[in-house]
Amino acid sequence: MREGAHPGQNAAYPAHLMFAKAIVAAAARFRRSRAQPTTAGGMIQEYEPEATRRQAGDQESSRASRGWWDRNADEYQSEHGAFLGDDRFVWGPEGLDEAEAGLLGDVAGLDVLEIGAGAAQCSRWLAARGARPVALDLSHRQLQHALRIGDDVPLVEADAAALPFRDGSFDLACSAYGAVPFVADPVRVFREVRRVLRPGGRWVFSVTHPIRWAFPDEPGPEGLSVSASYFDRTPYVEQDGEGRAVYVEHHRTIGDRVRDVVAGGFRLVDLVEPEWPAWNSQEWGGWSPLRGNLIPGTAIFVCERA
Ligand SMILES: C[S@@+](CC[C@H](N)C(=O)[O-])C[C@H]1O[C@@H](n2cnc3c(N)ncnc32)[C@H](O)[C@@H]1O
Repeated sequence: MREGAHPGQNAAYPAHLMFAKAIVAAAARFRRSRAQPTTAGGMIQEYEPEATRRQAGDQESSRASRGWWDRNADEYQSEHGAFLGDDRFVWGPEGLDEAEAGLLGDVAGLDVLEIGAGAAQCSRWLAARGARPVALDLSHRQLQHALRIGDDVPLVEADAAALPFRDGSFDLACSAYGAVPFVADPVRVFREVRRVLRPGGRWVFSVTHPIRWAFPDEPGPEGLSVSASYFDRTPYVEQDGEGRAVYVEHHRTIGDRVRDVVAGGFRLVDLVEPEWPAWNSQEWGGWSPLRGNLIPGTAIFVCERA
């Protein structure tokens, strides 16, 4: 059973956390060190987040993401900052770099929106190649890390579902595991991205490969046996003692994602499933050389504004 799962639940909660082990470890440390007091029945209580599968709408998901990333940004950046690099563009835990992948094309002279930018490492890579990036994220703390690294990229604190830009402001939009896995209504985000893109603009984003949801979130052999239905779209939710979500991830099948892309007003140009490279011996949550050599861990959708 996944750490934090409710003892009464018998399902093994599958892999759906981006960079899961580190996040789970960080969450556990957070729980131990800063358990949040809540009031219930006039009593102050401490809670241990309970992991479950249940519905979670737009607002609840967004609120949970903002709080979770604000609380965990320090740990995320200290654990993974070196792998991400201050100015590299890494698509996921396999380590596929945009310098090698070339999914964005020539970015020189382009206005680029990076969504769910975290500490804006990808935006810095884009700027070094002559693009004019804007790094957008929901989490204030993640953007403070962007400022810690440098003040060379414009930062915007906003929700991907309501982009604070005029129509047709950008030539290109991109996201490395930012926002899309965490939103209840990805089509709404895609329509927003389409709105702010100029005609023909490209939208390239990576997410946890949907097949991972069918497996336990473990880097070792236990992570190789199917434990849940791939077709179960019920979101993964961690909730506090009063039932409020403190972390949410949403599952879509590959087919769902393709339909969402089309419904959002895009053409799917390519779907890239990075293979685990021989040089990468690092485990990152449920992503490991063992599993990476057998099943995909990341899906990168390359789309064009229809
Ligand atoms: C896994 S991190 C990826 C960050 C960065 N791209 C990287 O590779 O390190 C996910 C990021 O998405 C952001 N995020 C989550 N939901 C979002 C939303 N609805 N709108 C904008 N950003 C969001 C989080 O705050 C977090 O910084």
